[in-house]
Formats: sequence, structure tokens, C-alpha cells
Amino acid sequence: MSRIVIVSNRTPGKGPAAGGLAVALRKVLSNHEGFWFGWSGKLTETPSSKPHFEDIDGLKVAQIDLTADDHRAYYAGFSNSILWPSFHLRLDLATIEGYWYEGYRRVNQQFAKALMPLLKPDDVVWVHDYHLIPLASELRRLGAKNRIGFYLHIPFPTADALYAIPHHGDLMRDLSRYDLIGMQANRDVAAFTDFAEHQAPSTFATASTETIDFSKTEVTAFPIGSDPEAFTRLSTSPAAKKMIHRMRRALTDQRLILGVDRLDYSKGLPQRIEAYEKLLANNQRFRRNVHLLQVAPPSRDSIKEYQETSDTLDAMAGRVMGRFAEPDWAPLTYVKRAYGQPSLAGLYRLARVGLVTPLRDGMNLVAHEYVGAQDPEDPGVLVLSRFAGAAEIFPEALLVNPFDTDETAEALRMALDMPLEERKQRWQALWAAATKHNVDDWALSFLKRLSPGIEDQAQVDKDTIYMASVA
Ligand code: F6P
Repeated sequence: MSRIVIVSNRTPGKGPAAGGLAVALRKVLSNHEGFWFGWSGKLTETPSSKPHFEDIDGLKVAQIDLTADDHRAYYAGFSNSILWPSFHLRLDLATIEGYWYEGYRRVNQQFAKALMPLLKPDDVVWVHDYHLIPLASELRRLGAKNRIGFYLHIPFPTADALYAIPHHGDLMRDLSRYDLIGMQANRDVAAFTDFAEHQAPSTFATASTETIDFSKTEVTAFPIGSDPEAFTRLSTSPAAKKMIHRMRRALTDQRLILGVDRLDYSKGLPQRIEAYEKLLANNQRFRRNVHLLQVAPPSRDSIKEYQETSDTLDAMAGRVMGRFAEPDWAPLTYVKRAYGQPSLAGLYRLARVGLVTPLRDGMNLVAHEYVGAQDPEDPGVLVLSRFAGAAEIFPEALLVNPFDTDETAEALRMALDMPLEERKQRWQALWAAATKHNVDDWALSFLKRLSPGIEDQAQVDKDTIYMASVA
């Protein structure tokens, strides 16, 4: 029986998971033979080349440490200052330092060297996300013949943005060493196909211009989802009820507009606050009876562009407060910390509007979680960016262009004014889509496509408490 080996930058921690990725895959491994491999979260001066195994809440996890310099170049540098902004079409926020690529490559080589001795010939390897694009190449260089799949959790860039990435030719060649590449949305597959079919000469004189052969790599959209039923249960759990009670006391009869996002420039938070400001400016009747709660846990805060986004938000939230607040009414609350899933589920359930307006996003699981947590008899309205992968799944949301803050303000007005019957109709369609695209089927369909022999033994235990998080 093939084992499943999951590889990602972060491994799941004890207690609440670090991210959406961790949540989704923990379930697969809890019902299937195999292990998870990744970075331990520790930085040491002389990391051992041998991974150490740990049992994390019943999950077998093999981890390696990294040096601080390698980690900086690989994670904050190449992955999050070059790949992340470019893949999100924010070339203006990319910083290019040549030596980061060497660190990125080195860490991928370290991953491969440490993982290779643990692999059995028929293990199926599933690699996750942009930190590890070169891993299949490095494993193959060491002799791995296994089926290796790659899943990109973030959007795939347009060809122009891809060409702006140093060593993009090498990275695309690395992708061609996978047997299967999964993407979030059809638009990502289209962008990849566009590149593959019209490969332009590299901008770098030193780089090879020979065409990359993708004939052995299948590229397909596998839109990730959440576990909406678990979210329904969570939203009526004691912790959720406690949060709802607290909030009801604070809100009295104000309707809640809720945003939950990592503090990341791709999430469109300044535009969101501007849209809310316009809603209040254009509709006097909403003042004193709506409230925006933006939950934004800090993220990647060693990177300058993230610090600047945080400063911008502080200033904007202050401006809206100064413009509209009264001694006995605050138009918004902006909370820079993370909440546990049960409390979040309570907030989702209470919110009349779920405001999910990233400028560009792979999928956006908050949209799925919001849908899962609604009361079917009195559901809220999802206002969703058309540039999130989730827009392909949820056409019945109020879809907006997040760059157009007038349009988002108008969608907020429509959401707040929407009659119960229309809210129910839209939500029923959203619920059907969220359950169709649930996380369990997502993982199984990817694994079965990667290795048709894999059986349904990975069918997950539906009673497992789902602990999704802000991806
Ligand atoms: O959405 C992409 C992603 O890398 C997720 O896999 C992860 O949960 C999230 O961003 C947080 O990123 P980081 O690991 O950098 O904190």
C-alpha cells in the first residue's frame, strides 16, 4: 500500500494550526499511512542533515532545522519578497536580491537530501506551495522515481509577472519535474497554459532559452474548500455562543460587517476601509446602526511591505474613527490578533455581512468558513472579491472589484438592505457550492489523480473537529 508523504514549509503545530494548509492535510494523514515533512520552525547554527521525528497530536511529522541566514533568504527573501508579490501581481512591492535565490535553492536541496532516505519506492509525495517549487527536481536529481505532485495554494501569475521573477526559467523547468500540478482556479491553469504554450525567451542573457517540456506534467484546477458542516457545528459551540453573547451586548442593534484576514497587502484591507468610509459618507442612515469589525492577525512582519501595510491601516482606521465616531458610537473595531476557530465561527454567524475583498487570492477559505457558519433561517450576505479563487465557486455572492471602492460600498449597502428571502436563496446556493467543494474531497481527488491506486482509506473521519484558519 502506498504511503502518502506530505511536504510543506510549515508543519502542523500542537494546538491550533498555523494555517489553512495545515488544517486540510492533517485530516488526510490521520487516516492514511505516511508522514508529514517540513521545517521544524527552529533556527540553529549547524542544523543536522537528519530529520527528527515527532508525534504531533497523533500525526507523524519529520522536521529539519535551518540556519537563520538560509531561512531569511528562502522564506522572507525569495519566497515572500519575490514570489509572493509577483504571483499576486504586485511587482511594485517585490524586492529583488540576487543571493536570495541561492538560499531558496539551498533550502530545497536540504529538504530533498533529508527526505530522500526516508522515501520508499512506492511512496506518493505531495509537495505544497511556492516555497518548494524546486523540490521535485532536487529529489529526482537524487534518484527519486516516485509519483510527485505539487499544489499551488496561491494564484499563478500572468506571463509578464512571471518573466519579472529572477530564474523564472529554472522555476518553470522545476515545475515540469512534477507528475501533477494542482491549482486553485481555472484562471490559474489558463495562466500556466498561456506560459507553457508561448514560452518567451528569457530576459537573462545567462539563462537557457530552450523550450521547457511539460508533456509529462498534468496541470489541473483542484479548488480547495473547507469543512462547512464542521463550521456549522463550531458556530453553535459554547465558545462561539460566548463570543456571540459578548458581541451582542456590545453591538446592541447595530448590524455587524466582518472581515477576517492575515495582515497582508494582498487582502485589500485599505481599499476595504475606504469602501466602508464611503458607505457611511453616502448613507447617513447607516451611521450608528452598523459596525465594521476587522480581525487582522499580523503576518510576516519582518518584511518592510507588511509593516507599511500595517501602518497604513492604523492611519486609515484612525481617520474613519475621527470622521464618524461619536462619544457613544464607534464605526469600526480593528483587532490585530488571532482568534481561535470557535470564536471566529461565532463572529461569522453573527455577522450580517462577510466582507472578503482580497485584491488577488488563491482561494480564500474565510469565504468558505463564513458560508459554513451561517444560520440557515437568517443567513448573512457574502461580499466577495471577483479576484479571489472563491469567486469561481461562489457566483451567488455579491461579487465586487475590490479596487473600485464605490462598487464595494454599493455592495455593502445592498447586503445590508437585502431582504431575508433573497439572503436565504443566495446562501442556499453558496452552501451547496461549499459542501460540493469540501476539503476532504479536495485532498482525495488530488491524491487519486496523482496515484490512481490510492484508495478511499484516506476518507476522513467526519467527526474530526475542523480547525481551519486564516490562510
Ligand atoms: O496562502 C498561502 C500560505 O502560504 C498558506 O499556506 C499559509 O497558511 C499562509 O499563506 C500563511 O503564510 P506563512 O506561512 O508565511 O505565515
